[in-house]
Amino acid sequence: MSKNFYITTPIYYPSGKPHMGHAYSSIVADIFARFKRLEGCNVLFLTGTDEHGQKIQKEAEKNNKDPKKFCDEISETFRSLTKILNLTNNDFIRTTEIRHSKSVNEIWKRLIKSGDIYLDKYSGWYSVSDEAYYDKDEIEEQNGKKISKTSGSSVEWVEEESYFFKLSAFQKKLLDHYKKNEDFILPHSRKNEVVKFVEKGLKDLSISRTSFSWGIPVPENKKHVIYVWLDALTNYLSALNFPNTKDEKYKSFWPADVHIIGKDILRFHAVYWPAFLFAANLPLPKKIFGHGWILSNEKKMSKSLGNILDPIQVIKDYGIDQLRYYLIKEVSLGNDGSISMENLKNCINNDLANNYGNLCQRVFSFIKKNCDNKIPARNNLKDGDIKLIENIKENIPKLIDHINKQNLNEYVKMVVNFSFEANKYFNDSEPWALKKKDPKRMHAILHTIVEQIKNISILLNPIMPIATKKVLDTINLSDKEISINNILKDNNLDYNSELKDLNILFKKIENDN
Ligand code: ME8
Ligand code: MG
Repeated sequence: MSKNFYITTPIYYPSGKPHMGHAYSSIVADIFARFKRLEGCNVLFLTGTDEHGQKIQKEAEKNNKDPKKFCDEISETFRSLTKILNLTNNDFIRTTEIRHSKSVNEIWKRLIKSGDIYLDKYSGWYSVSDEAYYDKDEIEEQNGKKISKTSGSSVEWVEEESYFFKLSAFQKKLLDHYKKNEDFILPHSRKNEVVKFVEKGLKDLSISRTSFSWGIPVPENKKHVIYVWLDALTNYLSALNFPNTKDEKYKSFWPADVHIIGKDILRFHAVYWPAFLFAANLPLPKKIFGHGWILSNEKKMSKSLGNILDPIQVIKDYGIDQLRYYLIKEVSLGNDGSISMENLKNCINNDLANNYGNLCQRVFSFIKKNCDNKIPARNNLKDGDIKLIENIKENIPKLIDHINKQNLNEYVKMVVNFSFEANKYFNDSEPWALKKKDPKRMHAILHTIVEQIKNISILLNPIMPIATKKVLDTINLSDKEISINNILKDNNLDYNSELKDLNILFKKIENDN
């Protein structure tokens, strides 16, 4: 029976069009989802949009639009981005859907039932842009304006009747959980920040608002709408047909294996979300991974700096596989990482065109010319050939471990290294000099190198699905055979069919001067 695996991205605010940061989280999650499928898991991959709250209401008003209409339009741009990024999400959830409000209502009812909600009055600082409450020691003054120290967004004073969640009561339970589950919050550096925050003591959390109406009403008091973060976090359950806990989807996929998020929203996922789940008497997700920032030319992307990278434009100019590969190679998941179009070009030329792309192209055209366009069978391999092939196989457990620990960088480094080695092997063995002299040896070399190309392509498939699929099509490997198991199997290339034609995989980018 195949193992179930549930992975999510944040659901994004449809307050403006998607940018490179959104694309990054989604691509990262997609790579994990695809890899888990290669391993044979039954994967559920969820993304979507977070459509309620004051931020969206204000943005809709600014645009003179009804909030639902406004969300319909922008949510659609996020949905179409999933296609452009070549994501394999199985679902796209919108928090304005009925399946979601049902699920949020149930969570609210459970929190009432557990006695963790009471009515009082909130007075304090609120950032509409972050949809977050801040303590006075979390804000500072800049140019006469009060802003959040961490996000830099402006805060306003709020005083209104509000329902509260007894977050303070969950301090010990949360700390115990962090301690018992080493990898609940990753990377570990970020876990320490969360632990410190919780150790300082938790205040009860305001979980309803009355000064605007765009949200899910509190079931027993329609003057209030439910705080957008309690609403949004619940999406991870709504997609599993919660509250029906007997539903196959819920039973198969909850608790989630990993929530992929940015570090900006770690507190919501690692403190509030588990506390809500404790109160609702539901299991906690297994892992929360908070990745770092994508910086554009060393700086955080912002409208005022004018350095926001539009993923759609970059993909038009350079290609989606190229962008996916570059982001993963260049940015160490978990840390901040700077990207630039200059480095993207170099990466395409060096890693993709000159290395993997060139390897595939020259091997296949050599076979076309010299072997009737068929892969030579596995005969007369020497120790060195076998060692090359076995090296990838022996490293599969290590590669799987890198993925399970979210070490995407290490994973890519290893695979790229296999590709360098394969290129070197091909150069050093000089099959072109053996055609007349020793055709048996030439065939053994070609067999070995195609085996390597196949295995490297399978390993790169989650990162560059389009290019690797072209390569695997060339050697007549079916979709079903694109799997980790196929790498582990011996002698399973197709020697009978002719190779299909392979067009240029990665165009070299000329430097504009
Ligand atoms: O916070 N670098 O939505 P949001 C890397 N709706 N990732 C970035 C990034 C950057 N420069 N900028 C944004 C919300 N991101 C809530 C989430 S979840 C229940 C609700 C990514 O539209 C990163 O994943 O502000 C970050 O956490 C997310 O976009 C924030 O998206
Ligand atoms: Mg944000």
